[in-house]
Amino acid sequence: MSAAAQNITPSPDAQSFLNREHRLLIGGQWVTSASRESIDVFNPATEGHLAKVAAGGKDDIDRAVSAARKAFRGEWSKLTAYERTRLIWKLADELEANLALASELEVLDNGMPLMLAQYSIASFGCEFLRYYAGWATKITGDTIPVSPTGVRNGESLTYTRREPIGVVGAIIPWNAPLIMATLKLGPALAAGCTVVLKPAEQTPLTALFLGELIKRVGFPDGVINIVPGYGETAGAALAAHPDVDKIAFTGSTEVGKKIVAAAMGNLKRVTLELGGKSPMVVFPDADLSRVIPGVTRGAFFLQGQNCMAGTRLFVHQDIFDKVVAQVGDLAGKFRIGPGMSPDSDLGPLISAEQRDRVMGYVASGKQSGAELVCGGEVLPGRGFFVKPTLFSKTNMDMQIAREEIFGPVLCAQSFGDGELQAVADEANKGIYGLSGSVWTRDISVAHRMAAMIDAGQVSINCHAAVDPAIPFGGNKQSGWGREFGREGLDPYLKTKATTVVY
Ligand code: NAI
Ligand code: MG
Repeated sequence: MSAAAQNITPSPDAQSFLNREHRLLIGGQWVTSASRESIDVFNPATEGHLAKVAAGGKDDIDRAVSAARKAFRGEWSKLTAYERTRLIWKLADELEANLALASELEVLDNGMPLMLAQYSIASFGCEFLRYYAGWATKITGDTIPVSPTGVRNGESLTYTRREPIGVVGAIIPWNAPLIMATLKLGPALAAGCTVVLKPAEQTPLTALFLGELIKRVGFPDGVINIVPGYGETAGAALAAHPDVDKIAFTGSTEVGKKIVAAAMGNLKRVTLELGGKSPMVVFPDADLSRVIPGVTRGAFFLQGQNCMAGTRLFVHQDIFDKVVAQVGDLAGKFRIGPGMSPDSDLGPLISAEQRDRVMGYVASGKQSGAELVCGGEVLPGRGFFVKPTLFSKTNMDMQIAREEIFGPVLCAQSFGDGELQAVADEANKGIYGLSGSVWTRDISVAHRMAAMIDAGQVSINCHAAVDPAIPFGGNKQSGWGREFGREGLDPYLKTKATTVVY
């Protein structure tokens, strides 16, 4: 385990970005916030101050929404689909050309290991944008081969158009900040919408960096506006804004419900990607050489600050002790340290608040009688580091097994022989239904179990298989709608039926 407080100096390019004045991108210009208030941004690995960023409030959101509306009605709406494709593709190219700096800023701001930042920005930043760039030219309506009532066959034509929904408010969290921005921008821009993006207050830096690339690429002014700010002010103003047509939100289930309430004023469309408490179900015939690394990574990837994290491990009783011991061993070997250190497998949690929240759950787990297999401690020194933690003998009456912890805490419980449905019922308990995985060599058990898991996404012999083309989203209180793939485009479009009677 490397020393948490190891000091790693930012590169000259990163330092020069950090030193800049960080303003809001509204109508194609970098502008100061109306209130002149700012947000202090910290490095979660060192607790050091990184930058001061203008904090947008209601007035700034108003300005950004009207810039987005103006752009929606203006030049942007006149561009051909090919021109939108080219602009989105060019943004992907700019991001790729700046991958090293973008990744470093992401690590400084969020804490994730550098390799992970580079990989995720390349595949879910650049490739995701390219995937949706391609969709811009493939949005089509239908011709309907009937005549309206009272009109003779052959004397009318009805067709549908898929039109952009309008101004989109995108509110994103801190756990994977830059790729969250691209996940919202890709389909919105492909559909022809304009966007006001509000990054999380903890991690606004890479969204602002993306803003620079957006300016370089040459999108018409106001197509993409970026307003960092706090959730209760900027976020709430965007969600309630009467001239916003749709909110795309990723974050907590609690705030998701507030977004829905705020959206009622003008009945704006809402899609929600919320929390999870995803099960990983391991049958006794599973290939343990894949299970052990797979479920351990599934649980602790991004320090567990990941909505898809496999946080409940269900293992058949015949192999339960063995699997738990081996997962505990591997988790104990993960090297924890600053994301910029090449030795780090896991970085810090995002904030002192998040660390304290996670440690509160660890205490609750101990109190409720779960058996601590490994971890359960913070690393001494600076930075918000928590050791990967595995609890055995958990059950769904325990708070740690029911609630989303959003940290490196895995709960294991065993199941016996009997009906698959009983295992599925246990895995399906709780308010979430985002992801899940099944581990077995038996194809009929695999597919039957996958069908029984109540989640938007189930993986077999891996956990959380993601790709820009694979629909992603949650059942129950894990969300509304799907992102990614063709389905991910639909919420940004509205259908108009047109009929002409000759
Ligand atoms: P959060 O849900 O408060 O923050 C997500 C985004 O929503 C941020 O941009 C925030 O500024 C904004 N926001 C907050 N309150 C708002 C409001 N009233 N109106 C509009 N926007 C608002 O998440 P937070 O507080 O950072 O983390 C708390 C817990 O939420 C975590 O421990 C985790 O369990 C869960 N979470 C889940 C995420 C996911 O990807 N499913 C991501 C982040 C947090
Ligand atoms: Mg919050």
